[in-house]
Amino acid sequence: MRCTGCARVIEQPELKENFRCVECGDLYEVVYPSWSAGSQAEIRKPNASAMRWLWKERCGSNAEADQSGVWRFREMLHVLRDESNIVTLREGNTPLYQLRKVAESTGIEQLFAKHQGMNPTGSFKDAGMTTALSVAHELGFDWVACASTGNTSAAMAAYAARAGMRSLVLIPEGKIAWGKLSQAMDYGALTLQLRTDFDGCVRVLTEVVKRAPVYLLNSVNPYRLEGQKTPALEIAEAFDWEVPDHLIVPGGNLANSSALGKAFLEMKHLGLTTQLPKISVIQAEKANPLFRSMQESCGKTLEPVEATTRATAIRIGNPASWKKAVRVIQQTGGYCEQVGEAEIALAKAEIGAEGIGCEPASAVTLAGLKKLVQQGKVQSGERVVLLLTGHTLKDSDYTIAYHRGDLLKPEEIGELRPEIEVTRRNAVELDASVDLVLRELERAAGQ
Ligand code: F0G
Repeated sequence: MRCTGCARVIEQPELKENFRCVECGDLYEVVYPSWSAGSQAEIRKPNASAMRWLWKERCGSNAEADQSGVWRFREMLHVLRDESNIVTLREGNTPLYQLRKVAESTGIEQLFAKHQGMNPTGSFKDAGMTTALSVAHELGFDWVACASTGNTSAAMAAYAARAGMRSLVLIPEGKIAWGKLSQAMDYGALTLQLRTDFDGCVRVLTEVVKRAPVYLLNSVNPYRLEGQKTPALEIAEAFDWEVPDHLIVPGGNLANSSALGKAFLEMKHLGLTTQLPKISVIQAEKANPLFRSMQESCGKTLEPVEATTRATAIRIGNPASWKKAVRVIQQTGGYCEQVGEAEIALAKAEIGAEGIGCEPASAVTLAGLKKLVQQGKVQSGERVVLLLTGHTLKDSDYTIAYHRGDLLKPEEIGELRPEIEVTRRNAVELDASVDLVLRELERAAGQ
């Protein structure tokens, strides 16, 4: 483990360190000394073409770890001493869909969605949870814990249940989508709804883990980020190890952008790929601490904000991994943008209308892409991948409210009214009459 602030290297973080460096308070990242250029152990650097072949080969295997889209890349994540400690739900191996209609309206020739919402608990969190929870299992913990806007808690509760471990979930009361809360309950977590926001839950949990023997599974845990690297490997593999020009991700606590950036940098270092994609991070306008930081200080300092957005997954004002995210944006030549509530809702409906769907936080990627195109920062010939982080069923209340016209206030809609009106598909209530159904069908066919 190397501290991302002062570069201090340690073998394994102690629990009391809370995954923060005792010297400077910054976050750790997993490093692989044997891969470093000039290292005496460089001989152990994995052979790129052998790895590519092995990872594909494992897709046909019946072994549990090989069937996981995370652990089939285990040469890129040496986090366990003993592979029998792997806790998996066969996560990963998620689809990469081409978005044809949205591509046309956005003016991008090759637009794809990597749908991480197609994971076992319906979000991208499973990829990192399988690695970090397996480490907790190997270390012999009985309890794991996280503060969450909903998806981390759902994933943690599921993986803990699979491993026969207990889980403690701290969530902001009234500020997470019901689908996510129901998952934590169903998977048997001790679910505490605190009367605060996500950032307040993090503050409480930081103290709790100092006093109780629970293993912290928030994304400050560097093992989470190792698993979250694997969608990048899958994307590169899907394009025959040519990386896309641009990858666009939503930004909340900012771990995901960091993990994907780490993966692309490592792949290039190991000779698996030759290029880096630009990685851009999109935030909601009223939950935009990174956007402000990039505008005001080029990412040198970050002022926490009080966050409010209907995309509850990214309602985060004080993101833990912001420094790592700044580094990734700068190293890859990407951008940070912000988008409004109506832009998010419209983008979500457009992704839904392609038969794909996603949760609101994921849709910021498309809304952000539109802005980047308008600003000339993304060109039509570029191959662009949007990272969709959560399944549409996570927050069906949001979707229903949008289509019923109850989600947005008129002043939020503004100039987007015509686009929003064509994407609304409210359910029609009728008497059980054949004629009435036929009349509706005729009306819809004529539209
Ligand atoms: N999209 C979804 C669906 C999320 O649940 C999250 C974060 C993000 C994007 C942002 O990712 O934090 O790595 O920048 N959800 C966390 C949670 C915070 O508790 O589930 P990030």
